[in-house]
Amino acid sequence: MKVPFVDMKKMHDPIRAEIDAAIASVIDRNAYIKQKELKLFEEELAASLGARRAAGVSSCTAGTQLILEALGIGRGDEVITVVNTAIPTSESITAAGADVVFVDIRKGTFNIDPDGIRKAVTPKTKAIIPVHLYGFPAPMDEIMAIAKEHNLYVIEDVAQAQGGTYRGQRLGTIGTIGSFSFFPSKNLGCFGDGGAVAGMDADLVDQVAMLSDHGRKDKYSHQVEGYNHRLDNLQAAVLRIKLRHLDEWNARRRAAAALYDEALAGIAQVVTPKAPPDGDSVYHLYVVRVPDRDRLADFLKEREIATGLHYPMPLHFQPAYARLGLGPGTFPEAEAATREVLSLPMFPDITPEQVHHVCESIREYYH
Ligand SMILES: Cc1ncc(COP(=O)(O)O)c(C=O)c1O
Repeated sequence: MKVPFVDMKKMHDPIRAEIDAAIASVIDRNAYIKQKELKLFEEELAASLGARRAAGVSSCTAGTQLILEALGIGRGDEVITVVNTAIPTSESITAAGADVVFVDIRKGTFNIDPDGIRKAVTPKTKAIIPVHLYGFPAPMDEIMAIAKEHNLYVIEDVAQAQGGTYRGQRLGTIGTIGSFSFFPSKNLGCFGDGGAVAGMDADLVDQVAMLSDHGRKDKYSHQVEGYNHRLDNLQAAVLRIKLRHLDEWNARRRAAAALYDEALAGIAQVVTPKAPPDGDSVYHLYVVRVPDRDRLADFLKEREIATGLHYPMPLHFQPAYARLGLGPGTFPEAEAATREVLSLPMFPDITPEQVHHVCESIREYYH
């Protein structure tokens, strides 16, 4: 039995006619940039999050950079984030002109360690970017308490956790503002690159929207120099349809995760992911920790089971961050995780048979 890592076709097939009609409508009206669908999607996204305002942008990477710039963060400022994330999180900090300050993950979790944040705060620190990695909410209560104490902004990286909650609040609406990704394979993905920023501070979101559209307030009036980092109307038209299914897709991801938890429970070598109790995790990824990770991945590949690595190297080991001079042992928890993590197939339409086949193959490997 072949098990892909994700199967987007299976997700799109049932809503394909609706999507085709929405795309056709955009083409028929030549409505490509800043049109009705974008405005409606922004309103619907904000409503789904319980946010005051949402604005489409070209990607989460761009969104985070623009947020930092809108907050006046740049040269000479420090921004704290976690070392176990995709490079866009930290790239956005550098792109805004500020300095990246990495922190380890908390033992037993995959998310940022609030104790590490406390130690990393300096007089130059302006913001914290927690990442809700794999769809697991970061410990926001502790992070918000630190931010309050030191007067810092909190920018939630929701790229992997669209639709998740923390103590009943949607992720992205707890901190100062949230940055979202609609990369095709994300929980809410479009048909190319896309992203959004959203939150309770409507003025800040408006500021980001302005920066994303050449600093425009209206067609011929530019308040500042900005960027071309808009979300295309065609993508917004697709996202409007997909957003209506997001909660159901996330529920199916959680059901698949529960099946994995149960089926892997008896295998001593496998540590299953522990979703924090204070939120709804949306399992963008289902990541186990195992010894002998690379050989297990090869074994599964031979059985036509696809797996992924998120991530094989902590960011401080990347050549891109050699300038920081952070050697082995700097962030021991994240360094250990990168050696042991293996992402198993996870998507809303994965079948119980596929999950059991993956788990039985892992059992076979270790026995
Ligand atoms: C945690 C995290 N942050 C940010 C991003 C960047 O998202 P985008 O591709 O929309 O810029 C990603 C995408 O891989 C991600 O996983």
